[in-house]
Amino acid sequence: MNAIDVRPTTTSVYGAVQLGYALVDSPRLSEWRRFAAEGIGMALADSEPGTLAFRSDDHALRLVVRKRPQEDVALGWQIAGPNELNMILSRLAARGVKVEEIGGDEASSRGVERIWRFIGPKSLALELFIEPKIVADPPKVLVSGFVTGARGMGHVAITTRKPDAMIAFWREIFDAKISDYILDRIGGVNLKFTFLRVNPRHHSIAVAATRGLAMDPFATKIQHLEMQVPTLDDVSEAYRRCRALGIRIMMAVGQHPNDRDVSFYCMSPSGFYFELGWGSKDDHDIETSPQTTYEGVSLWGHKPQDQTLGDKLGQMRSAVASLFRQEYSPF
Ligand SMILES: [Fe+2]
Repeated sequence: MNAIDVRPTTTSVYGAVQLGYALVDSPRLSEWRRFAAEGIGMALADSEPGTLAFRSDDHALRLVVRKRPQEDVALGWQIAGPNELNMILSRLAARGVKVEEIGGDEASSRGVERIWRFIGPKSLALELFIEPKIVADPPKVLVSGFVTGARGMGHVAITTRKPDAMIAFWREIFDAKISDYILDRIGGVNLKFTFLRVNPRHHSIAVAATRGLAMDPFATKIQHLEMQVPTLDDVSEAYRRCRALGIRIMMAVGQHPNDRDVSFYCMSPSGFYFELGWGSKDDHDIETSPQTTYEGVSLWGHKPQDQTLGDKLGQMRSAVASLFRQEYSPF
């Protein structure tokens, strides 16, 4: 080793990006209160009228639900510092993506001082921020904790008719790396999942696409939002709470082959799924690991539990409708 530590100037933001918060617009605030606080077990934080804010860790909030007539969702991404933020903003500028800088009450309603908001793939609003408000008191959650830290609040899965453009977007903007792939046939449709990581979490973004004819069976902008808990008991107890509350379990407990996450999926009040998982293996060396392609999204379990014929028909309708509308892509 050289006596002088000559480090190349980094031009990557890999490792400096994490999912910070989810911002949900919904007319169903009372359902969200019950779902997130009593079912999943997050802590209801102080918030303004017409807004619910939930905590999972020392951040002032991780999930914000605003009362709005239309369902929508946006994602907040925490960036490590101003240098990394400027790199991302200059990449967006180079691509002609309009970014709105927002402070004041709107930013503080997300638990931050300033946000940089733009429209990402599939018209999903994305918000960048640097410093989250931290609260000293631990949140009163119903689980033993949530796995966050450098891994961020969790991950999202997005269905798309333009997987190449969407994957290119995350790779160009966030220097996302591909962890692995999964191929499966679900509901008679061949699907390919691409798992993208931006920090130690196995993936922060999963991109799901049909193979062959490009269809999108989900009308919601995200297919699911996932959070992780530290013990299998936490998953078990949350599953029991959701069942007791009558929250629909869309896929019962099972295990994914790639991150080995043991999880279940329930239906959020906004129509996207919510996955709660335990035991994700995050720490394989992304630089040296081959990008394995797994067959099947689940090693075992994840069987449909409370899915109805109406759900299947709805997905078929959305898939067909998707053929007749444009999916926005910023580049
Ligand atoms: Fe997931």
